[in-house]
Amino acid sequence: MAILTFSGNERTVQDREGVQRTLHEAGIVFEVWGTNRLPRSLSARNLSEAEKQAVLAEFAGEIALLNRTRGYTTADVVTLYPDTPDLDALLAKFDRRHTHSDDEVRFIAQGSGTFHLCPTTGPHAGQVIRAEVHPGDFLLIPKGYPHWFTLGPARQITAVRLFTDPAGWVAHYA
Ligand SMILES: [Fe+2]
Repeated sequence: MAILTFSGNERTVQDREGVQRTLHEAGIVFEVWGTNRLPRSLSARNLSEAEKQAVLAEFAGEIALLNRTRGYTTADVVTLYPDTPDLDALLAKFDRRHTHSDDEVRFIAQGSGTFHLCPTTGPHAGQVIRAEVHPGDFLLIPKGYPHWFTLGPARQITAVRLFTDPAGWVAHYA
């Protein structure tokens, strides 16, 4: 379950209702898909193609609904782990403030990381909201929304990603 902290104060939000409300106010979609359907064997390493397909199959209903309502065309499963080739170079692309021309849509299946969210409107405008995500969390950052991402201390995360156009997945720095 996600944990929120805020730049400039010591406040922490970690109850489901509070996390959902705060992120909604900040223009972020947050849902708990839960961990019950995740394969128990997911571990800190790269996943086989069969394991990736198993994760996608378990959440096919949620993915189909998002495809229908938001126009996504592709889903994949990405795994980062300490032995990922060029991990630091990969992380460096996304650990400073950027936007994308597609929504950033993630369901966390394993591991943890932090999305640093920079709302530009609403009650949290001007703050950085840090959303530490954990298995079972679903997060949707709309296109054009400034943010950055850092990996958790174990340097390991597995996430389902949805795209309207995976070829366009690049960071724009602002
Ligand atoms: Fe991003």
